[in-house]
Amino acid sequence: RHVYVNGDYLPETEARVSIFDRGFLFADGVYEVTLVLDGRLVDFSGHMARLRRSLGELDMPFSLAEEKLLEIHRELIERNQISEGLVYLQVTRGVADRDFNFPLKSTPNTVVLFTQKKSIVDSPLAARGQHVVTFDDLRWRRCDIKTVQLLYPSMAKMQAKAQGADDAWLVKDGFITEGSSSNAYIVTTDGTVVTRDLSTDILQGITREAVLLCAGSLQLRVEERPFTVEESENAAEAFSTSASGLVSPVVSINDKPIGAGKPGSITAHLRQLYLERKR
Ligand code: PDD
Repeated sequence: RHVYVNGDYLPETEARVSIFDRGFLFADGVYEVTLVLDGRLVDFSGHMARLRRSLGELDMPFSLAEEKLLEIHRELIERNQISEGLVYLQVTRGVADRDFNFPLKSTPNTVVLFTQKKSIVDSPLAARGQHVVTFDDLRWRRCDIKTVQLLYPSMAKMQAKAQGADDAWLVKDGFITEGSSSNAYIVTTDGTVVTRDLSTDILQGITREAVLLCAGSLQLRVEERPFTVEESENAAEAFSTSASGLVSPVVSINDKPIGAGKPGSITAHLRQLYLERKR
C-alpha cells in the first residue's frame, strides 16, 4: 500500500513519523475519514470544511490548500486501486520537544494519509443489524472536534464486544450522545426520526447531514433533540450513520430487541436513498 507523509508518496513500510510528534505524545491532532464509492470521494468538501473547523478550534495552523488535499486523496485512490473503501487523513501540530506549551514558533504540521480497501455497501453487519450496548460517555467535553484522542471510544467498543455486542452507544446524563464512531438515531413508533441536536456533545457527522436531507425528501418527520436510553430501547427502529457504515441498522439495545429485532424499513429506505444520491 502507498501512503502519503509530508509531501512524499511511499510504500507504507518506509513511512516514518518522529517520536516527538505532538500527535503521538499529546494526541494533538485531528483527522477525517472520507468514503470512497466506485473510486470516487463522497462529500469531500464537507469533510474538508469540518477539518478546518477542528483545526480552528484547536488553534492549529495549517496551510495545505483544499485542492492539494483533493489531489493527494485522488492520487492514493489511484495508486492503491481503491474502488470502495476509505481515505484517512491526519494532521498534527508537528514535531517539538515534549512540552505542554504549544511550540512557540509554529512548527510544520505532520500530514499523513492512507487508504483502506473495504467492502462497505455489502457489509454483513448492515444486512444483519448491529447489537449495541450503552456505556457512560467518559470522553472529554469537546466531542465536536474530530481529534485523534480515541482511547475511550475504543475501550467502550471493546467492552461492547466482550459482552457479545457490536458497538457501544454512549450516554451522558441519561441521554444517548452517539456511537463509538458514528451518530445515533431512533425511529419512534409514530415514524419520527430522532437524533441528537448538534452541540459540543457530538461530532457533526457528514453522513448525518446527508441522511437528514434524505429523511426530508422521504417526507419523514425529523426531530433533532436528545433521547434517553429508555426511549431508544422502546423505539420502533434504530440506526447509526458514518462514512464507514453509511446507514447501519441497530437491532438491539442493551439486549432489548428493537422493533421486530430485524433491520427496520425506514432505516432501509434511508440507506437506499443515501446510496442512490452518493454513488
Ligand atoms: N468516525 N461520531 C463520531 C464520534 C465519529 O467518530 C464519527 C466518524 C461520526 C460520523 O461522522 P461521519 O458521518 O462524518 O463519518 C460520528 C469515523 C468514520 C472514524 O473515526 O473512523
